[in-house]
Amino acid sequence: MFKYFKKIINWREIDLGDEKKNEEFYKSLRELITILFAVVLGVGLSQLKEYKGTYDLVILIIAYTAVILSWWGWHYGIIKGPRETNALNYLIDFFLLVLYWLLINKRAPLFLVLLMYCIMFLLYYLWELIRKDPLHLLKKARKLNLYFLLIFIVMFISYLFWEVREPGVGKNWCYIVALFVIIITYRISICRLYSAKKSDTSFPSIPKEDMEKTLIEKAKAVAMNARVHLSGFRVGAAILSDTGKIYVGCNVEFDNYSNTIHAEENALSSMIADGDKCPVSIVVFTFDDKLWFPCGMCRQSLFELGGKDLKVITCNEKGCEIKTMGELLPGGFHL
Ligand code: THU
Ligand code: ZN
Repeated sequence: MFKYFKKIINWREIDLGDEKKNEEFYKSLRELITILFAVVLGVGLSQLKEYKGTYDLVILIIAYTAVILSWWGWHYGIIKGPRETNALNYLIDFFLLVLYWLLINKRAPLFLVLLMYCIMFLLYYLWELIRKDPLHLLKKARKLNLYFLLIFIVMFISYLFWEVREPGVGKNWCYIVALFVIIITYRISICRLYSAKKSDTSFPSIPKEDMEKTLIEKAKAVAMNARVHLSGFRVGAAILSDTGKIYVGCNVEFDNYSNTIHAEENALSSMIADGDKCPVSIVVFTFDDKLWFPCGMCRQSLFELGGKDLKVITCNEKGCEIKTMGELLPGGFHL
């Protein structure tokens, strides 16, 4: 058990955004969570004797199913990050929490249950903060910290109010409404935090309108360095990564033909060698009359690193055409 905690405490050394590199970490984390859940299930089952009749038993089974489902959801959230706010997400969150509620409600006082939810949300939130680029997000997260402080204060006041003045009256509904508000505002805030990060860092040094022009110029310039003594077909590629850096590459041909390096491969390799991981857009430049999008092999590499939203712009001296990777490689393969 100590080994798991040690790994988790050393989170600074772990790039939680890189799925492959940190398989070991995720494995430890899953094992730890498995242990914790086993404890929770054990404690819950030991309470079984207090559940009387089929109705109680059904509720218990549903609640445990919810716990297990949300456990998987949690893993997924850690790995992928919360990217979407939609009605389905809210509904699932809400019903999971109500089911938890039914499970715990048998024993604990309501206020304690609510406090547990708050702590749970705080933990989710912390996870999401340290998942990727912690320093940047922490700077942006001040408002959210205030939000949590506010929730705890409201909880405390409501506890005093309900417990002291009107014990038992309307408590259930008030708490359920409070929970609902917490869940929705939590999702909205955390998604805002992430989308703010995305639009903030995509184009940090060059304004967005000028970025594409810069990429095209760079792709054209690097195409002039291409080694194309076999085909005479010059290709230049310029990649913009998610950190705002630009990487260029040209095609390089060799006398045995089969060693040819494509311009896109060349640019992608420079990006990886420099430590960046994710291309946001790529410009491919040729001097041909026809506009060419990357070949099948390059599409696979681009899809693996940039995903379906990667913007692919192909240009010649007359103009450009834009497509997304999703359009160029529908149903693309990805492990
Ligand atoms: N080429 C690229 O650089 N990228 C592609 O996606 C298609 C092909 C190069 C390789 C070769 O040097 C020349 O174009 C003709 O095939
Ligand atoms: Zn290619």
